[in-house]
Order: sequence, then C-alpha cells, then structure tokens
Amino acid sequence: MDSRFTNVIDLNDMGTDWWLSVVRLASEIYDDPARYAKACEGKIMATLFYEPSTRTQMSFQTAMLRLGGTIIGFDNPATSSVAKGENLKDTTKIVSSYADIMVMRHPSDGAAKAAALTADCPIINAGDGGHLHPSQTLTDMLTLYREKGRLTDLTIGLCGDLKNGRTVHSMCKALAGFEGIKFVFISTPQLGMPQYIKDILMAHGCAFSEEPSLEAAMPSLDVLYMTRVQKERFASEEEYNRLKGAYCLDRSKMLMGRKDLIVMHPLPRVDEIPMDVDDDPRAMYFKQAHYGVYVRMALILTVLRDPNHSIPLLTGKIVNGVECSNPNCITRKERYLPRSYRGTDLLECEYCDERILF
Ligand code: NCD
Repeated sequence: MDSRFTNVIDLNDMGTDWWLSVVRLASEIYDDPARYAKACEGKIMATLFYEPSTRTQMSFQTAMLRLGGTIIGFDNPATSSVAKGENLKDTTKIVSSYADIMVMRHPSDGAAKAAALTADCPIINAGDGGHLHPSQTLTDMLTLYREKGRLTDLTIGLCGDLKNGRTVHSMCKALAGFEGIKFVFISTPQLGMPQYIKDILMAHGCAFSEEPSLEAAMPSLDVLYMTRVQKERFASEEEYNRLKGAYCLDRSKMLMGRKDLIVMHPLPRVDEIPMDVDDDPRAMYFKQAHYGVYVRMALILTVLRDPNHSIPLLTGKIVNGVECSNPNCITRKERYLPRSYRGTDLLECEYCDERILF
C-alpha cells in the first residue's frame, strides 16, 4: 500500500539525493531567509504532539511562520479529544483534513506510519517512541555539512542511551550509505545499539565499533554525539536510576578530544554535559538546535512543493493473527491497525521494524 502523499516517516523511504537536496536547501535558506518569507503563504501546518517537546515543536512552528504560513495543533493531548478516548486514526484523519501538512510526535513506535495510512495530507514524523526522528537527522546532517564541510569520511562517536534514543537510530540508518563514515558506539551493555541497526550498517558495509569508555574513544573522534538516558522509555524508575549518569562529558574529557572535534546533542540534556563545557568552541549543540529551524523550513517547503509524491507504506504481508513482540509498537495500542510484516521466516513489523520469529 502506497500513500498518496509525500510523508516523511523514515528517511530511508526516500533516496539520498532527496535528503541532500533538503540539506542544501536548508543551507541556502540559512544564508538568505528573507527570500523565503512568503513561500508558504496561505498554507496551514498542524502540529500534533502527544509527547513533550521544546525544540522540535517550536522549530517546526517557527519554520512555518517564517515561511509565511500559519499553524494549528496541540502540545498536550490531555487538552484535545484524545483525553476523551479518541483513537489515533480519527484524530489524525480529521486534523489532516484541516491542514496542508501535519507534524506528529507520539510515544509509540510506528505511530507516524499508522497515522499516514488514513491521513488526508502529508505527515512528517517528529519522533515515534524510541524508533525514528527524521527531522532531527536532517538537522544533524546540516550541522555536519556546515560545521565539518562534509557528510563523508567522519568518525562519529554516539554516546549514552543508544538503545532507546531515536535520534541515533535515525542517524545510523541515514548515514550508513555515506562513504568513509565510521561509528563508535559508546554505551553500557544495557544501553547498547539495537541489533537491527547494526545489521543495517553491516549490510551497507558501514564500519562501526563498540567502546564502553568515553575517555578511550575521545582522541579518534571527528564528531561526538551525546544523548540523554531516555527516562520515559524505562519500565521502572529504579532501572532508570541505575543507568542514568553512565556518561558525563566534563572538561577533563574534552581535553582528550581533537581541536577540530565538534560536540553535538539533540537536547534536552540532563547531566551528560555540564554547563561549563558550553563555552568550549567545539560545543555545537546550541547552534545545532538553531540549524533545526532552517532544516524544517526546507522540509516543509519540499513536501508542500511536491505533496503528492507517493511513498510506500505497507509493502509486506498482512498477518492478523501475529502480534508484534515490541510492547511499545503502535499496533499494541491501536487495535484496528492491520498487522503487516516484511519477510518470510524472520518477520519484521512494518510499523516499528521489530523482528519476530515466526
Ligand atoms: C530528542 C528526542 O525527542 O528524541 N530531542 C529532540 O527532538 N531534540 C532527544 C531527547 O529527547 O533526548
């Protein structure tokens, strides 16, 4: 099943050329924003945020306002009909008939794809559970493009909660095909990168290594991407308390990094980067967040210029008797969704990419 719309659910639904054109357009807008001030006049963007957000939501809203468009939406489902028990399909179906483009963040993996099945306008995934976060990845690409001058030949350290962090999953999936990219996974075994992401890297021949010590990894890195331990994805507070604070990039560790290192973080930070690192010229996270507005301007423009570029949604087999084994998959909550899987022996959920032995 294909969508009638240019949905941005998983960057891998589009080709590398598509992402690069968005990043280049974002860079052009950054250099001359006035040129685009009326580009979306008369257009409405809806933001449906079922999960907390500062940067992503406000940068999308700022982006649309700076393009001359207008915005509607909610940032707290408790103040919408979701609180009355409305399902995802009905909410998104209705809102998508009001707006020209819809941006959604949701706590369940695969929620953006689920909404796209019935939405009447293009949808941009602004984060679905611990799964993916494509607009953050485009932001990270723009940061690399402008601050390192390239998206190739980079050793990128990903540090912290690699298990639950959607930003690092999205980044690995996107950069796997770029030449000379090498990832260093800096995490504890409990917070390690999921196997399905490692398999994608291996399939692309993208080099990666695992190094539990941040100190040991520091000297080899061109880029250090810090992440917070994702409290909201843990089953219990005790488990979170045991793992939080696993990594802290303090000034003494910064001394071990190269002069031309850049430190990125999707933010919010908790305690993994103390504030006294902010003045180090290699700290790029605030500028990275600023770049996010231009990326989202480029993304909105690109989708609205070609809103009907059909993107595949469900391409596998519908096996309604088989449940996805990921407890956070959207199919576990929204029971009307067709259970659709790729593959034959090893089934892969088409919403959240979880593998199920069948
Ligand atoms: C990230 C997210 O929501 O996944 N934040 C963001 O979008 N800038 C990272 C996080 O919450 O840790």
